[in-house]
This record gives sequence, C-alpha cells and structure tokens, in this order.
Amino acid sequence: MVQGAVNRHTKLSEEWLQKYVDDWVAFYRKHTKEGKVASYIPVLKKANPSHLGIVISGNNGITIQSGDVSIPFSIQSISKVFTFITACMQRGISYVLNRVDVEPTGEAFNSIMHLEMGKVEKPFNPFVNAGAISVTSLLDGSTPEEKLEPLYELFEKMLGYRPKVNREVYQSEKESSVRNRAIGYYLLEIGALESDLELTLDTYFQQCSIEISLQDLATMGKILANDGEDLKTGKEIIPRQIARLVKSLMLTCGMYDASGKFAAYVGIPAKSGVSGGIIAVVPPRARANELPFLSGCGIGVYGPALDSQGNSLAGIKLLRHISNQWDFSIF
Ligand code: DON
Repeated sequence: MVQGAVNRHTKLSEEWLQKYVDDWVAFYRKHTKEGKVASYIPVLKKANPSHLGIVISGNNGITIQSGDVSIPFSIQSISKVFTFITACMQRGISYVLNRVDVEPTGEAFNSIMHLEMGKVEKPFNPFVNAGAISVTSLLDGSTPEEKLEPLYELFEKMLGYRPKVNREVYQSEKESSVRNRAIGYYLLEIGALESDLELTLDTYFQQCSIEISLQDLATMGKILANDGEDLKTGKEIIPRQIARLVKSLMLTCGMYDASGKFAAYVGIPAKSGVSGGIIAVVPPRARANELPFLSGCGIGVYGPALDSQGNSLAGIKLLRHISNQWDFSIF
C-alpha cells in the first residue's frame, strides 16, 4: 500500500511533501516493469526502462523533485503543444482552427485510418501526428531553422535558455520515418499542408528531437497553469486565450486514445511524448482546506517504459496517485 493521504490535519511542510513524493516514486517505480520503451525510433531503445522521475513546480514557490530527475530526453509529442501555440500566435487562432480540428480521435497517435475513414478535410486535432504535421506546415519559413525560430524564442522566454535538437534522435527519427511520411503524403493529397512536404517533415522531426529536462516541463506546465503568464516577471508569454485553448486540447486529446481515462482518473490537462515525458498542468483551485499546491503547479514526469498507447505507464500511475491524494482534478 502506498502511504500518504494528506488531510487538513497534516503538516504541509516542504519536507513532508518531499517525503510523500519520494515514497510514491519508489512505489510506482516497480510498475515500470510493465511497460516497454519505444523502439520504432531506434535511438529511443537506449532509454533505461526503470527510470521514473517527477518535478512539481508550485506557484507557492515550492518545488519537489524526486526520482530520476537529471536525465535529459527528447520532447517528442510534447512539442506539439508548443508548435500549436506558436502557430496560433503567428497566424491567429481562427486561421489555425480552420486547418486543424479540435476533436479527439480515439485512435493511436500515428493512425492514418481515421483520416481516411472520416473522409476529413482537416486532421482531427493538433496532437495526433497528422494534426501536428499540418500545424508545422503552417509555420512561416523556408528552412526548418526558420520555421522553428519562433518556437525557440518561446522556449527561451519560458525557460531562460534555448534548448537544442539532439542530432542523434533527429537522425534516428528521420531514418525511421515511414509512418510519418505516409501521413505526410496523405495530408498532401487532401490539401492539408501549407509548406513543402520534405520541409514540413524535416521541421517536424527536428521539433520532436529537441532535448529538454524534467525541470523544463514543470516550468512550462506552471506557465500554462497560469494561463500563459510567468508569475516571476508578471509577463504574459502565451496569450491567455491560446493558453486556455491548448489546455482544453491537452485534456481531451493530450494522452491520445487514453485521454478519456486520464481525464476521468487524473483530471488535469497533460501531454505525453514517446520518450516517456509527460507535462501536466494543475490550475489554481479554491478549497477551504490545507491541501498542497492549491495555488496551482506545473508537473513534469519522466518514465520511458510506455503502455500500449505510447504514454509513460508508471508516470500515469504516479500522476493518478498524486492527483487523487492532493485533489488536483479540475472537475
Ligand atoms: O512522430 C512520432 O512518432 C514521434 N516523433 C512523436 C510521437 C509521440 O511522441 C507520441 N507520444 N506519445
């Protein structure tokens, strides 16, 4: 049994919170054995499946870090959150939403079938590969570097540094990209690409290969929790309307065909990536008790052993436990 229900009588010092999270990470690490690291991008096979780590960055100034928190990893599909934000900032929300829908698919992240079966004119949402590739095609620029420049600028504003592409991951993505190429050609056929196919795919492979840390995920999650504002500086980094839109998509589509279960059992906006990362967002809640992080927090989780939907298996279990213990659900 995992210990640690926090109630109104519990002393909520940072030390106590740290002890709880350490205990929970140790417990859920055993579940990493039930998952498998992604292998369809060969370089991702190198990840250690028993790794599990979490960083919680609170609006109250408390940061809790536990487990394997120092391993850099490629952002993968979590990048889709930020390219969508970038495209909305560059082109305007209605331009982007005229070209990508906001409906969950109930299918795998790299499904082609749902595009053809639905006879769609635009991909279902910006977080499945089809939608993300379409969104990437909307970014201005005639090279991947030009297209991704505003994304790097956004990262720099949020994180205080410019993350870099991991070239080994990028090469591996590119060399093993048959499925994404098939999706790309299908999008080309239905007129859902606004830039050249090769340029779009190359940009997409680069954005997925950007290397980040768990601390970065927690920091970016916290900015989204505050509707795009960086509380440290009081600056709006992401326009409020875009931040709120992206959170609704994270909740409904962020965990792919496990999004319904994640909303029901964890209850917070989140986005996963196949390298094992999850960014999760806990907006401020009003409660007349002493639960921790009532003022909101951003969470980063890393656990490369995945479930059959391509989400971190132990990472989801850990998030579910913490969300239940600390009443994180937005519902
Ligand atoms: O395009 C791909 O398949 C990967 N670069 C990203 C997929 C991904 O992260 C799905 N997430 N769980």
